[in-house]
Amino acid sequence: MSAFTDYQQEAIVAARIAGQYQKSLFASSLEIEMKGDKNLVTEVDKESERLIVEHLLSRFPGHDIVAEESVYPQSGSPFRWIIDPVDGTTNYAHGYPWFCSSIALELEGELVAGVIYNPVYDELFTATKGGGASLNGRRLSVSTRSPLDNALLGTGFPYDCASDPVNNFDNLIAFQKKARGIRRAGAAALDLAYVAAGRLDGFWELKLKAWDVAAGVLIIREAGGVVTTFDGSSYDIFNDRIVASNGLIHDEMVAMLASVASGVAE
Ligand code: IPD
Ligand code: CA
Ligand code: CA
Repeated sequence: MSAFTDYQQEAIVAARIAGQYQKSLFASSLEIEMKGDKNLVTEVDKESERLIVEHLLSRFPGHDIVAEESVYPQSGSPFRWIIDPVDGTTNYAHGYPWFCSSIALELEGELVAGVIYNPVYDELFTATKGGGASLNGRRLSVSTRSPLDNALLGTGFPYDCASDPVNNFDNLIAFQKKARGIRRAGAAALDLAYVAAGRLDGFWELKLKAWDVAAGVLIIREAGGVVTTFDGSSYDIFNDRIVASNGLIHDEMVAMLASVASGVAE
């Protein structure tokens, strides 16, 4: 038990409510709106967020909320929930069964609880600060695989990758040449959960938002992994460059990103 278990339990209830709803409408025809050129939002994103926020505020009425689909008034509470109601929206909208909800709690700016739920696999990744990380109740730890040549990595691309040259393409080429393989599965929160579970050895991405990463960062740290910015310095969830790994390949990943940035990597 940790001091944050009660909060985590309510986040789990909220994630399961949203997950059941997401499964009930999965692969049905949905109303889709475009937020940008490639960035879409469905009625399921909005209703999932409403369900999660409704549950959390029914339990913790004074807490603040930051979530992807709406702006909520901030009261200055020391507790702030950071929510991505559907991570992997493009997958969801195409009937590709790879998506999750991601719910994290900050206390005075520090991550103290995180929940990522994949309703299709019924996989629940959780962590509390100082309480370790779990998958469906089983303790998680990162992989022991190294060096980078042997690693399986995850990444993703920003929605504006066609119009902005800061798009991660150069990094992809460099890592693809060096590592054993790269996966672009389309849900950053699940990528992070997979690093925590040792199913991926590392992950990097740019231009992610706090709701994409908040729960995953805590889950990786509690599973013994390392999370930094691209230059290896300390990371907070509002930084838009993230490198996460099992720790053993971290320096190599940071060095690779530096060599790409300086134009040295081929
Ligand atoms: C996206 C996914 C994707 C990542 C994008 C995110 P969304 O979140 O996590 O893997 O590459 O940058 O914006 O839009 O599905 O919640
Ligand atoms: Ca997201
Ligand atoms: Ca989302």
